[in-house]
Amino acid sequence: MSGAANPTPPLAPPLAALLELTHRCPLQCPYCSNPIELERAKGELSTDEWRRVLDEAAELGVLQVHFSGGEPTVRRDLPELVAHARRIGLYSNLITSGVTLDRARLAVLAQAGLDHAQLSIQDVDHQTAAHIANHPGVQGKKLAFARWVREIGLPLTINAVVNRHNVTRVERMIDLAVELGAVRVEVAHVQYYGWALRNRAALMPTLEQVQEATQRVEAARARLRGQIVIDYVVPDYYARQPKSCMGGWGRQFLNITPSGEVLPCHAAQTIPGLVFDSVRHKPLAEIWASSAAFEAYRGTDWMPEPCRSCDQREVDWGGCRCQALAITGSAAAADPACALSPAHQEMRSLAEAASAAPAPDFVYRRMTPQETPAKVAAATR
Ligand code: SF4
Ligand code: FES
Repeated sequence: MSGAANPTPPLAPPLAALLELTHRCPLQCPYCSNPIELERAKGELSTDEWRRVLDEAAELGVLQVHFSGGEPTVRRDLPELVAHARRIGLYSNLITSGVTLDRARLAVLAQAGLDHAQLSIQDVDHQTAAHIANHPGVQGKKLAFARWVREIGLPLTINAVVNRHNVTRVERMIDLAVELGAVRVEVAHVQYYGWALRNRAALMPTLEQVQEATQRVEAARARLRGQIVIDYVVPDYYARQPKSCMGGWGRQFLNITPSGEVLPCHAAQTIPGLVFDSVRHKPLAEIWASSAAFEAYRGTDWMPEPCRSCDQREVDWGGCRCQALAITGSAAAADPACALSPAHQEMRSLAEAASAAPAPDFVYRRMTPQETPAKVAAATR
């Protein structure tokens, strides 16, 4: 693959911002996208600080904000933040585990101007769901939450995270989303960063399981056309082409941690040497335009071969930096999901070996780190 370099286009504003209001969460999913070292409540931005961040995001040109976590509903000021987003014209989405709110508190959020709710599920099987979340009775609470969302009149997306424990039930998870009245279901194979990387062997399905799941998703798409939108996030370890992670580093998206650090993606803190600016010290627009962490892998100038001369470099933007780091030890390498990466076969072999062995116990997501990030990186490489 080859192609001539294009002039760099002017920097557009981010389309969306993921606001991690807190890392506190009642669930302990072993594939959580939060970092291994979770932030404590005492370091979280205050209500006033989050309001200012929303103002700055709107001024910058952000269109959508995703209130996320941890579990964002453990912040008692969430209705105020939702109302503020509505006042300044931001579309707001709540990304939730669905186990903390009752119907009345959900109604308050809807009244404050919430536009959309996104509910994650661990499985259709109640016992496996409780095991994955390490939370007895989790499925019953989620089903009740989904009902309330629809009764109150909010649009609902179901996010089903696929791993070796539930991969045979993808079709039933899609059918559940239809039953719950969701407008969209995202069937997403686990992405192996942070906690999921630590739990890779416990989560990785076999190639045959993945192929069967993919066929079942395709069949469901044909069967349910016009009833529900089905998004499918493929498993990188069995892919031949990388995904355009985040739509390209620093191109469409930013992520703000509970204490206000601004990241190009949720796993960016795993990359050694990157320094992240905080909304506590700099305006969001300045961070977006010129922060060292955003500049590090923005565009194509940083790319080594094979990406540098590849005609896909402005399509997938070299894939995922965090995955390149996790497998090759270098965040600047081509994503090993790409068949042109020298580490492509190594990544496939890691997946095959992990999925062929019996699944080890989960290392559940907890506030107290069980291992340091450096030890985790060494253990999972
Ligand atoms: Fe090309 Fe790099 Fe994308 Fe592979 S990861 S298709 S080499 S730009
Ligand atoms: Fe960080 Fe893909 S998750 S670039």
